[in-house]
Amino acid sequence: MSAFWILSLNSWMQTPVGFEVVNGKIMATDWLAILFNPSFPYRFTHMLMASGLTASFVVAGVSAWQVVKKVDSKATHHALKTALVAAAILIPIQIYVGDLHGLNTLKHQPAKIAAMEGVWKTEKGAPIILFAWPDKETKSNLYAIEIPKIASLILTHDPDGEIKGLNEFEGKHPPVAPVFWAFRIMVGMGMLMLLLSWFGVYLLRKRTVNTMPRLYLIALSAMAFSGWIATVAGWYVTEIGRQPYIVYGVITAAETAAKHAPAMIGLTLTAYLALYIFLLISYVLVVKNLSEKPTRGQPPKLPTAPIQKIDAGFASVDSSSRAETAGD
Ligand code: HEM
Repeated sequence: MSAFWILSLNSWMQTPVGFEVVNGKIMATDWLAILFNPSFPYRFTHMLMASGLTASFVVAGVSAWQVVKKVDSKATHHALKTALVAAAILIPIQIYVGDLHGLNTLKHQPAKIAAMEGVWKTEKGAPIILFAWPDKETKSNLYAIEIPKIASLILTHDPDGEIKGLNEFEGKHPPVAPVFWAFRIMVGMGMLMLLLSWFGVYLLRKRTVNTMPRLYLIALSAMAFSGWIATVAGWYVTEIGRQPYIVYGVITAAETAAKHAPAMIGLTLTAYLALYIFLLISYVLVVKNLSEKPTRGQPPKLPTAPIQKIDAGFASVDSSSRAETAGD
């Protein structure tokens, strides 16, 4: 419910409909149109998928770290498997919804798309830029690595389709570099999520959790917070991307800004940043600390080193039989 209302409001600020301006005031004329505005279905679905993926990767990552640290239990293995399967199902849906979301943005906020894609001048057959340094002085992309025609193909379904450039929105487009980079971070995380979750599910068909490659488990642990990174990057694209407007095409951010002294704003912002950085570091350390402790109520694990044969009559216990004892 909370996601519904937040996303409905935010989407309306991106694609405002169902209102009229009377004496400089925005008056609602159609509440249903406002609630279910044109970008709402995409944003709502994309955000719900993002939350599911964030939860899946934190559970998978923490569980993988427990296996690496050898404090895992049967519950850890169940959690890891469930999270991997959930992520493997959610991520293709997220990529598909993301693609539809982009097409909707092209229709309603073409300047945002031009910034995301780094298209400075309107062009046909626009390339997809994998890496570049968008330079606002020269209005061009430095050191660009690009694949010809792919941006046009994705956005217009025609390799020679036309993409409007930032030149068409002089003074009315967002700052390019943060939108361009945030978009690549979000999509990059999405691609890593696809790779790791699908590879994990493939591994699970052949192996138990304890016999998964250590390198894979470490990579999965490194992805524990990837959902947050992708989500924050996504919001950067969305919110920086609607600049200079606060309600797209209706009111600019400058018109709504309170007249506070720059020093006061700088101080408040610094205080917020310091608080959130402190909370973030504390959170990561607490999660790391908890994930390195054995699960409460679990019997201690058997030693990892192979137990020597005591007598000719006893079978030796090696690390692979330890894996099975762990209850996979
Ligand atoms: C991999 C392919 C992806 C594509 C093509 C994609 C596409 C998009 C687009 C076009 C927007 C901005 C639209 C706008 O503001 O008008 C957006 C925003 C966003 N993205 Fe993605 N995205 C992808 C992956 C992800 C992933 C993996 C996550 C998180 C786990 C994510 C989370 C978000 C969030 C939270 C927003 C801001 C809310 C919204 O506007 O929907 N995205 N995405």
